[in-house]
Amino acid sequence: MDRIRIHGGRALNGTIPISGAKNAALPLMIASLLTEEKLILENVPRLADVGLLQYILGNHGVDITVAGKRAGDEENAGQTFELSAKNIVDTTAPYHLVSKMRASFWVIGPLLARMGEAKVSLPGGCAIGTRPVDFHLDVLRALGGEIEISEGYVIAKAKNGLRGAKISFPKVSVGATHAALLTASLAKGESVIENAAREPEIKDVADCLIAMGSTIEGAGTSTIRVQGRDKLNGARHSVLPDRIETGTYAMAVAMTGGDVMLAGARDDLLVAALDTLRGTGTKITMTNEGLRVSRNGSGIVPVDVTTEPFPGFPTDLQAQFMALMSRAKGTSRIRETIFENRFMHVQELARLGANISLDGETAIVQGVEKLKGAPVMATDLRAWRNHGPPRLSSRPWLRAAGAEARPLRRLDRAGNRLIRV
Ligand code: EPU
Repeated sequence: MDRIRIHGGRALNGTIPISGAKNAALPLMIASLLTEEKLILENVPRLADVGLLQYILGNHGVDITVAGKRAGDEENAGQTFELSAKNIVDTTAPYHLVSKMRASFWVIGPLLARMGEAKVSLPGGCAIGTRPVDFHLDVLRALGGEIEISEGYVIAKAKNGLRGAKISFPKVSVGATHAALLTASLAKGESVIENAAREPEIKDVADCLIAMGSTIEGAGTSTIRVQGRDKLNGARHSVLPDRIETGTYAMAVAMTGGDVMLAGARDDLLVAALDTLRGTGTKITMTNEGLRVSRNGSGIVPVDVTTEPFPGFPTDLQAQFMALMSRAKGTSRIRETIFENRFMHVQELARLGANISLDGETAIVQGVEKLKGAPVMATDLRAWRNHGPPRLSSRPWLRAAGAEARPLRRLDRAGNRLIRV
């Protein structure tokens, strides 16, 4: 378990480069399974999830070369991956890997489409909600896959290949839309995806698939049409900037005050969240370099939010916004509609002195004058984010995946990482 010691109470100032989006990088890496040719991905973020997916894809036979750093590259500069799935040697993804990161379940569609079979473990439990995969299985069935669930695994077969179909989701799902897009790209004929997720990461993946030879219309809207191909070719694609990382830092500045440039960030990727932040009294301007976020000493204005699929306020920024509202001058209501259990951070914020009560899917946050440091646990995926390389000693699969060893950041005597803000 990593520990971070934070000395708070200061304004944030400076420049932070924004990484490539995790939630685009993962499905883009999985897209490499769709072609025998090389897929080159630029601006891949340096995250534990990426390292784990490298390892999982490696198990299937994908060769991944990571280009070395160039002189002058920042410590956290994006990586360039060359992925080659010429020879898929194994179509099974085991429980001990899939349970560590849910998105690795998404390999099932591309493996089935390319190889006619796949055996992938069900992902198991998750800290933010039940997160079933029924829509994913519906996608595979609609495209002609035969599905059996046995001993915790989904066994999918399509001896005569997949064929295009109409897929209509009962609820918007990012992962199931990715699954439908990726899988339909290698299914014969046309597929129409209705009630599709409109997140920018969906559009980014569709752009990469188009560069790989797929014909896709409507990505970024709720109806997507895909003309399946027998084969896809290699391509080069750069991962779009991470809107959640952008929003997280923007909220940190809103909370502490200060003036920070989020280099490379794009305001069009998080309009709803930025509008909400502006409502709290934070100044945000788009410049050639990126997004400039500042707040002077004035109080934080309370704002109510409801999480929604894109283009609404993202669930992945809900915990961060709650932290901000816990210092607001008044009461705000935060409603979570995407995941039923994404309030685990409430009790941790209470340990810092926040005044928050829960009423079903709504948190009522009464802003307090000051928060005080305390030991807290990071529960939610986004209330805590594992930036940069994890300690390799405790992550043997990363060492096996060829992740580079780096010196640990400075630790204090108790073994906490020292970060001053
Ligand atoms: N759902 C089902 N059945 C399914 C799939 C989803 O009922 O088969 C439900 C979920 O339980 C949830 C809703 O549909 O209530 C939306 O879930 P979605 O499928 O959109 O979530 P996801 O694809 O598993 C992605 C992101 C999450 C982000 C959500 C919502 C990735 C790798 N993950 O998850 O990101 O919170 O969309 O925007 O793209 C994170 O990055 O920290 C993270 C959790």
